[in-house]
Amino acid sequence: MTAAVGPGLASLKRSRLFAGLDDDALAAIAAKVSLARFADGEFLCREGDVGDRMFIVSAGTVAVVTTGDHGVPVTLNTCGPGDVMDMTSIFEEKVRSASVMARGAVEAWTLDAGDFRSLLVSHPQLATVLFAVMSRDLHRARSFTPSLSSGGADTRLKIAFFDSKPYVEACFRDHNWRNYALQFFETRLSSDTVGLSAGSDVVCPFVNDRLDAAVIEALRDSGVRLIAMRCAGYNNVDLKAAGRLGVGVVHVPAYSPHAVAEHAAALLLTLNRKTHRAYIRVREGNFSLDGLVGTDLHGKCAGVVGTGRVGKCLIRILRGFGMRVLAHDPAVDAQFADENRIEYVPLPYLLSQADVISLHAPLTCDTHHLINADTIARMKRGVILINTSRGALVDSVALIEGLKSGIVGAAGLDVYEEEEAYFFEDFSAEIMTDDVLARLISFGNVLITGHQAFLTWEALGNIADITFNNIAEFVAGRRGAELSNAILVSSC
Ligand code: NAI
Repeated sequence: MTAAVGPGLASLKRSRLFAGLDDDALAAIAAKVSLARFADGEFLCREGDVGDRMFIVSAGTVAVVTTGDHGVPVTLNTCGPGDVMDMTSIFEEKVRSASVMARGAVEAWTLDAGDFRSLLVSHPQLATVLFAVMSRDLHRARSFTPSLSSGGADTRLKIAFFDSKPYVEACFRDHNWRNYALQFFETRLSSDTVGLSAGSDVVCPFVNDRLDAAVIEALRDSGVRLIAMRCAGYNNVDLKAAGRLGVGVVHVPAYSPHAVAEHAAALLLTLNRKTHRAYIRVREGNFSLDGLVGTDLHGKCAGVVGTGRVGKCLIRILRGFGMRVLAHDPAVDAQFADENRIEYVPLPYLLSQADVISLHAPLTCDTHHLINADTIARMKRGVILINTSRGALVDSVALIEGLKSGIVGAAGLDVYEEEEAYFFEDFSAEIMTDDVLARLISFGNVLITGHQAFLTWEALGNIADITFNNIAEFVAGRRGAELSNAILVSSC
């Protein structure tokens, strides 16, 4: 936090707390407040501390966060310029029930509680504006509170979750500070199960729920007005049908690039140092090191395909290992390249130079089977291929040939093009009928995880917060492009 001196009267007047005060009162306040600057992630005040001052956001956005289960922060609210934080500390010095954290660069005026109390005595008009702000805040809080009809029926907004898992339910319940009525179904959403959504206002599906035209029509008929995907992908939603039937569709475009990048790094380290094999050996009492020789990543060349949110996180990790990084992306970020001392190159050059290739491009018409027999033939012998993006970026049959020929030295796959049939469920007691997946699993130098790269408490918390915010925007009357995370009809 860096402090700066006294705000001008004009800038104080822009605050909703001080607007309407005369210049005399403003000058008295200006003499008491100080402007503080906070960097991204810095706390203005912390949960558990005794409140002794109030904050008025001058510029930027702050998040009001509290600690949920597993120690993961839960965002209760976000506030912007003019919003007043920690007003109760003016009247009673009690322990703060939440922290206030800067989201990006933030400027805030701070006003000591004692100073504010003496200002109330010397300038009584301040009390009038304070009551007006508090009454508006009370009204706003009430609009989030569940209302009960005279008959006692639960009139809260009802959300039906499909393809739910215990960790999904735990996280969404934890983040449900708006007190929506939540119903969790483990079954996937399909024409057979759509009846479960009867009485719901919103459905919250996941990547493998099937939202075809018939399902969306049945949803609409049962009163559902919004499909709130709790994931980034939406290839399983018939967007044209949703548009035609007037059902909104929103999603969560990004939730934790760190989670995905760190998982990609975990796959790479495991395959390179063969810790997946060492783990099994040691459990069986076999301490032999034969066949476990790896290579130093330091000084080797990594090729990162797609330098968006996840790709950039991974590049920073790989640079930390001391790797040379070549990147390929149609959208070149020259500043990022300079700062991280990486080079953007054409894909064929990247393929020919990289000892490790990691895929972070989205699945589009252009990237479908980006890794195929031709591109594998251009790779360095023994290359380690990592895919945490989307399964269909890789032609799995060509990959099997690449592994058999030794061009691909190892493959770490968190995604698989036909994953829908198996991923997220337990088939351990059944015979696997997907021969390509079975063949991939049979290689000792292939490590497959079941689309778990996103699975951290932080990412789940972000997914819950963004999903509930998407729903709140819809409830507030926003439609179509007015919704921050509306899905537009794909051109692919
Ligand atoms: P992003 O949208 O921030 O970045 C994608 C980047 O790929 C962009 O810079 C874009 O210009 C680039 N790109 C587009 N076409 C390309 C091409 N033909 N060649 C090279 N680069 C190309 O996406 P973000 O958040 O970084 O996510 C990357 C991918 O990770 C997503 O597409 C998603 O499928 C996947 N993902 C996987 C998860 C998992 O649990 N395994 C979780 C979240 C995302």
